[in-house]
Amino acid sequence: MPHSRDRSSPLEPIRRVSQIRQYSPDPVPDDIVGQLLELARWTGSAKNSQPWRFIVVRDKERLKKIAALRPPIGWLAGAPIGIAIVLEGAEGMFGAYDEGRLTERLLTGATMLGYGGGTAWFGGPAQDAEAKRILGIPNDLTARQIVMIGRPASRKDPRPTGPMRGRKAISELVSYDRWGGSRAK
Ligand SMILES: Cc1cc2nc3c(=O)[nH]c(=O)nc-3n(C[C@H](O)[C@H](O)[C@H](O)COP(=O)(O)O)c2cc1C
Repeated sequence: MPHSRDRSSPLEPIRRVSQIRQYSPDPVPDDIVGQLLELARWTGSAKNSQPWRFIVVRDKERLKKIAALRPPIGWLAGAPIGIAIVLEGAEGMFGAYDEGRLTERLLTGATMLGYGGGTAWFGGPAQDAEAKRILGIPNDLTARQIVMIGRPASRKDPRPTGPMRGRKAISELVSYDRWGGSRAK
């Protein structure tokens, strides 16, 4: 059972999904957006409650206003479109879990279609309220992120203080049969 990377694995396109923060100005065709929305719609959710609604944001002025909410998401102004996720009646922990699954589908789907994606979190209650105002989302609904989609121009993080790239080693993450147990039987 090899733990090393197998570039021929059908899982390879998923393994490579990463956060894109620099986009080419090429528009994203309606057909691509439609496929992503369909993929998102079929995400599993707690009790199949499907607590999400989507706003496809194409309007540059609105995107610029959202980008200005805080510096770590300033890059989103350069993406051609975003899909804002709105949660309706989502219970706290379940809602967060469902939203994570949904987001990963959008990022993975965009990558598999030859595009890329990046999530931008508005930043907390004050910024969430402002983003809701910019997008006309009713106050009683939850909105905390927009997933940007476009052709990647670079995979680099343009921000001066972004997190480290790469991942922890498998040996650091996995144990067998009990906490800390080794692989050898
Ligand atoms: C809950 C959550 C919030 C995030 N918020 C932001 C954000 O506001 N701005 C940003 O540029 N990236 C954000 N990210 C992206 C992470 O920085 C990214 O997934 C992580 O650094 C791994 O990136 P990589 O897959 O490209 O290596 C967020 C990711 C998650 C899961």
